[in-house]
Amino acid sequence: MQVPKFVIMLGNRRNLIFRVSIVFNIAVFLYAAMHYSGNSASGVEWVPITSDGSERSAEIRYLKEEFRNESETRPAESSVRNLEESTSQKSIPSTMPSVNKTASSTVSDIDKKVSAVPSEANLINETLDIVDENALSETTLARLRSLLACNDKDFLPTTTQRGEFWVLKNFVRAEHGTVLCHESITYTTHAGFEYFDNVIPLVERWMAPVSLAVHAPGDDLASTVNSIRYLRDCAGNDFVRQYVTFHVFFSYKHIPAKIPNPDEFLQTPFNCTNKAPYFNATPSYKKQKNLLYPVNVARNIARDAALTHFILPSDIELYPSPDLVPKFLNMIARNAKPLNTSTKPRVFPISIFEVDAQVLAPWTKTELQRMLANKTAIPFHKYVCPNCHNIPQGNQWMTTVETNQMDVFHVGKRQGKYLHWEPIFIGTHQDPYYDERLSWEGKKDKMTQGFVLCVKDYDFMILNNAFLIHKPGIKRYVKDSKRDLIAAKQSSYVKKIIHPELKKLYGTKHGCAL
Ligand SMILES: *[C@@H]1O[C@H](CO)[C@@H](O)[C@H](O)[C@H]1NC(C)=O
Ligand SMILES: *[C@@H]1O[C@H](CO)[C@@H](O)[C@H](O)[C@H]1NC(C)=O
Ligand SMILES: *[C@@H]1O[C@H](CO)[C@@H](O)[C@H](O)[C@H]1NC(C)=O
Ligand SMILES: *[C@@H]1O[C@H](CO)[C@@H](O)[C@H](O)[C@H]1NC(C)=O
Ligand SMILES: *[C@@H]1O[C@H](CO)[C@@H](O)[C@H](O)[C@H]1NC(C)=O
Ligand SMILES: *[C@@H]1O[C@H](CO)[C@@H](O)[C@H](O)[C@H]1NC(C)=O
Repeated sequence: MQVPKFVIMLGNRRNLIFRVSIVFNIAVFLYAAMHYSGNSASGVEWVPITSDGSERSAEIRYLKEEFRNESETRPAESSVRNLEESTSQKSIPSTMPSVNKTASSTVSDIDKKVSAVPSEANLINETLDIVDENALSETTLARLRSLLACNDKDFLPTTTQRGEFWVLKNFVRAEHGTVLCHESITYTTHAGFEYFDNVIPLVERWMAPVSLAVHAPGDDLASTVNSIRYLRDCAGNDFVRQYVTFHVFFSYKHIPAKIPNPDEFLQTPFNCTNKAPYFNATPSYKKQKNLLYPVNVARNIARDAALTHFILPSDIELYPSPDLVPKFLNMIARNAKPLNTSTKPRVFPISIFEVDAQVLAPWTKTELQRMLANKTAIPFHKYVCPNCHNIPQGNQWMTTVETNQMDVFHVGKRQGKYLHWEPIFIGTHQDPYYDERLSWEGKKDKMTQGFVLCVKDYDFMILNNAFLIHKPGIKRYVKDSKRDLIAAKQSSYVKKIIHPELKKLYGTKHGCAL
């Protein structure tokens, strides 16, 4: 299929632009460093700024834009961004959200969630009057821009190294065009191609950028490329093409024989009469070589590539509740209690559930509650590791009725009874990274991050209506002695090596454990 025109033209100018943008980024960084060096706000992820930013409101749109004056938002790159006209479309004001499981609707009627509310007024003192919680008005976007004061990022393919891994960042890019850092949330995730059956249900519910890091050693890269092409060309809708950006990575010890060039393979449409290359697939190379899955390398790659301020680092089998992105951003823009009174760094955990293999994932909290009542849904890992996902006030959450707007349901801590809580949450790029020495097979791969969050006294602001549903099928504990052996080794490594390191780096706090 066609590569958008601006991508091709970008190629020639990439070097120059890249250099210019580095200079620009350094300048922004220095400015930020000077600006905040006197601020002791203990890593709080945003600094409310009272006046600046409002003049941009007229141009900003949600994902797709009618017109955007790039010389204002991205001074160093104005020459490039004007090439984006191919993605511009006339926006339809206040399109109702399409909440449709069949996904028969097309991108064009979903991504125009823009209400025409022009405003040049002082945005900070004014109460935000949100008409549609499932849409982002210009006022909301302008408010977000000034509240978050985030930096927009480049969206270019790059080859980098991360320890022993080669990383082809932005290997196949989504066609959403420019995404400014305040105007969406990126679902950041990772997988081998054999998990790609989750991509379509995930993106149909998320309807916003997805940053997917794919472990593709040796011959698994060829299967990965075919799977990407299948998802983009054969899904029956444009969502993958529109929203999902694929990064691939592999160890230098397992470099593929040939590295296909996306500019070439994306030119030819995939033959959709073949079955999905990921369907019932086993990663032959990974299996044959008995490789461990470098889960945290993958998580960090996906997160680093996200263009937005807010990210939802998650597992690819966890499908979000619909309209989470606009509802969450409207909540942030509203900036009511406890958001405007909190002083600690914070993340926003989302409640997780499993559903029976025979049922469809619920679309609303109300539907989820009915399923909990008849036991077709249960809290996540109830039968595998109940304490891992036992969330503060979990039972109250389940019995509280759904409301129209998103709010913070409860502010919890990862302490006491919730010492080993492994929450999935919306956070930002300032949250601690995942330790890249840990493998998926070794288990508890997120615990070191959890420990740092606890020591840094993060607030866990649990969201009221948002939830994640695991791919249908309820998990039971299955003994795997080979994995248990790896887990025992990893656990001892964490205790002996990583824990002392973290104590040196971050200190300790009463009630926090690893
Ligand atoms: C974009 O904004 C700049 C700076 O405000 C202005 O000089 C320029 O004329 C604008 N361009 C368009 C096409 O409106
Ligand atoms: C959902 O899709 C079905 C079948 O295409 C259609 O009849 C129905 O009106 C749609 N519902 C909404 C809310 O768009
Ligand atoms: C906005 O609120 C601040 C603090 O309450 C006040 O100093 C400022 O004058 C207000 N601005 C406007 C335009 O009302
Ligand atoms: C697609 O694959 C099918 C089955 O393998 C084959 O019969 C068909 O000719 C192929 N179509 C094209 C356009 O190559
Ligand atoms: C926080 O927001 C609430 C509701 O919008 C408002 O009543 C309260 O005054 C705000 N508090 C501060 C400290 O700004
Ligand atoms: C459970 O409740 C859901 C939602 O109301 C419904 O769709 C499903 O058919 C019910 N299943 C059983 C076994 O009662």
